[in-house]
Amino acid sequence: MMLIRRLGPLWTCAALALASPALADDGYGLWLGSAREQGASVPVDWTSDSPTLRIAAEELRRSLPAGSRPVLLARADDAALAGQRIDRQALGTEGYRVQHATIGGRAVTLVTGATDLGILYGAFALLRHLDSGGDPANIALASAPQTRLRILNHWDNLDGVVERGYSGQSLWDWWTLPDFKDPRYADYARANASIGINGTVLNNVNAKAESLTAPYIAKAAALADVFRAYGIKVYLSARFSAPIEIGGLKTADPRDPAVAAWWKAKADEIYRAIPDFGGFLVKANSEGQPGPRDYGASHADGANMLASAVKPHGGIVMWRAFVYADTDPEDRAKQAYTEFEPLDGQFADNVLVQVKNGAIDFQPREPFHPLFGAMPKTPLIAEFQITKEYLGFATHLAYLGPMFEEVLDAPTGARRGETVASVITGKADGHTLSGMAGVANIGRDRDWSGSTFNQANWYVFGRLAWDPGLSSQALAREWAVQTFGSDPMVIGTVVAMMMRSREAVVDYTGPLGLAHLFATGHHYGPGPWVSDLARPEWNPVYYHRADRNGIGFDRTRTGSNAVAQYAPPIARRYADPRTTPLEDLLWFHHLPWDYRLADGRTLWEEMVRRYDRGVAEVAAMRAQWATLKSRIDAERWTKTDTFLAIQQREARWWRDASLAYWMSVNGLELPAGSKAPEHGLEHYKQLRFPYAPGNPH
Ligand code: GCU
Repeated sequence: MMLIRRLGPLWTCAALALASPALADDGYGLWLGSAREQGASVPVDWTSDSPTLRIAAEELRRSLPAGSRPVLLARADDAALAGQRIDRQALGTEGYRVQHATIGGRAVTLVTGATDLGILYGAFALLRHLDSGGDPANIALASAPQTRLRILNHWDNLDGVVERGYSGQSLWDWWTLPDFKDPRYADYARANASIGINGTVLNNVNAKAESLTAPYIAKAAALADVFRAYGIKVYLSARFSAPIEIGGLKTADPRDPAVAAWWKAKADEIYRAIPDFGGFLVKANSEGQPGPRDYGASHADGANMLASAVKPHGGIVMWRAFVYADTDPEDRAKQAYTEFEPLDGQFADNVLVQVKNGAIDFQPREPFHPLFGAMPKTPLIAEFQITKEYLGFATHLAYLGPMFEEVLDAPTGARRGETVASVITGKADGHTLSGMAGVANIGRDRDWSGSTFNQANWYVFGRLAWDPGLSSQALAREWAVQTFGSDPMVIGTVVAMMMRSREAVVDYTGPLGLAHLFATGHHYGPGPWVSDLARPEWNPVYYHRADRNGIGFDRTRTGSNAVAQYAPPIARRYADPRTTPLEDLLWFHHLPWDYRLADGRTLWEEMVRRYDRGVAEVAAMRAQWATLKSRIDAERWTKTDTFLAIQQREARWWRDASLAYWMSVNGLELPAGSKAPEHGLEHYKQLRFPYAPGNPH
C-alpha cells in the first residue's frame, strides 16, 4: 500500500488575488493571479510529506480546471513509480517530468522529480502549460534547469531604501524582522519558485557591515525560514572591511590569519542560524568599496579567503568583476578584463566571478562583456539588471527579454559554437557551478515592480536563468497569457508592444552604440553635455567623444584597443566599422558625422532617423494599448496608459535634448522632415531632479 496524502477541499491557504478583466486588478497576483480561474479542487495526492509538496499540491488544487485528471506528486525513486519509464539522469536535482500515467490502476497526471523542489517546479510548469493554452489531453513536460544558481540581487539597504529601486521601499522590513514575517515574504518566494529562481541576495552590494551582526543574521534567518520550502536560499552581500568595522581588527587583509579566522567564525555563526545559507556576494575595490587591493592582495586572494570560510558548509562566493578605478587612465570598458583575466585558474572551486552583461554598466545596449569566453578555468555568473536604471526606471515600458537574449546568444568567438549562454551554464568548460544573477526590480509597491510590464522583466529573467535557450518572444507570450488572460487580440498586441519596446528606448536614449549619456546621479534623463564631474569616466563626454568632426569611442588599435580583449573572430569584426553591427558602431569607432553607411545615409542622418524612430515607436505603443481599453481591467489599463503618456513625453525630451546638444557640437542642420527640438539646449541643461528615486546620496 502506498501512503497517499490528499488535500481536502477545506485546506486553507493564502488567498489569491483573482479578478476577471472587468474588475480592477492591482497587479498583486503577478503572472500567477489574474488570468487563472478559481480551481475546481481537483484531487491531488502525494506519496511522501514535506512543506514543499504541500505547496505544490495546494497550487494545483486551487488552480487546475474542472475536469482535470487527479494528480499524483511522487519522487522519481518512489516505489509507486517502479513501472514507469523515467529518465532519472535527465531530472538532475531540480528537474521535473509531468505526464499522464496509470498508477495503481488509476489514470493520473503524474508530477515527478528527483527532489520535492523538482516536483514543485513541475507543478508550476503544468499550470503554465495549461494557462498558455497547452492541450490538457496531451501532457508531456520535462525540463531541468541549465544553471545551478538562479538568483536575485536585491540592492536593498538596511534603512529600507533600494539603490536603483523604483518600486517603493525594500520588501524586507528589517525593523520588524525577525518577529513579524509579512505574508508578502511567502508570496515573493512563491512567485520566484514559479519561474525557477532559487536564490536571493538580501542586501545591497554596497553593503553595510551591520548586515553581518547577530541581530541582522537573525532577521536573514527569519526570511530563510519562509523561503526554504520554496527552494530559495538566502545569500548576503559581504562588506570586505567588516572585520575592522564590526570585528575590532586593525586590518581586513585577506592574507592575515586573524582576518581569515574572523570570517570563518562569522560563517560558522551564520550557518548556525541558517543551515542552508547560500554564501556571499562581494563588491570589492569598486566605486569606493573596500577590498583586497587595499592591501596589495589580489581579487583571488580576497575571494578565496571568504570561500574557505563557507566551504565546510557547502557555501559559495560570488565575486564581482565590476571594477574600475579613477586612478587608472585605461578605457573603463577594459579595466575588468585587465584585472580579472590574468587571475583565471587562481580562484577556489567554490568561487564564481560575477560579470555584468556588458563592460560598462547596464546600458540600454552594450556588446557582451569580453570576460565571457576569456576565463575558461573559472565559473562565471552573468549579472543582468532587471531594475531599469538606464531604461526609464519603472515608468518607461521596456521588455528586457530581447536584451538578455541578445547577450546570452552572443558567440564569444573563443571556440566554435561557444556562446555567453554556454559559458554561464558551465557547459563550455565543464563547470558544475553556473548561474545567472539579476538585480531585482521588486519593492513594496502593490504591484511589486512599479508597473505591470516590469513584472515581465522579473519573469523573463527567471525563465531565461532556468534555460537561456528559451526565446524572449515565446516568454513574452507566456507571461502575457498568464497576466492578462487568453484573449488573442490582447496577447497579440501586448507581445508586439513588448518586443519592440527595448529597441525604442535604445533609439531615443542612445542609438548606434552610444552609451552613458545619462544625467548625473539619477540616470533618468539626458545629460550628454556633462563634462565637469571629478572622475573622467563619470562624464558622458568621456563616452561619446563628440566634437565638430565626429563622434564615438575609438576602441580599435588606433584608440584604446578594447577590441583586442575579444577572441580573434569577434575582435576582427569589431575592429572594422564596415563589419561592426550598426547597433554597436559608436561603441567601437569614432567616425566623422558625414561617414557614409552601407545604405547611403550619413552617420548624422541615421542618428537622427533613429531618435525619431524611437519617439514614433512610443507613440505607436500608446496607440496599440488604447485599442485594448475594453479588454483589460481598468486599473492596470489606466496605469499603463498613463505611464505610456509619460514615456511619450520623455522620449521626446530625450530626443530633443540630445539632438540640440549634438547640433551645438557638429553645427549641422536636421535632415529635412525632422522636427526642431522643442526648446533650446540651455533649457535641457538646467533641468534638475534632486529627488529622483533610487539615487544613492
Ligand atoms: C551602477 C549603479 C550603482 C551600483 C553599481 C554596481 O554603477 O549606478 O548604483 O552600485 O552599478 O553595480 O555596483
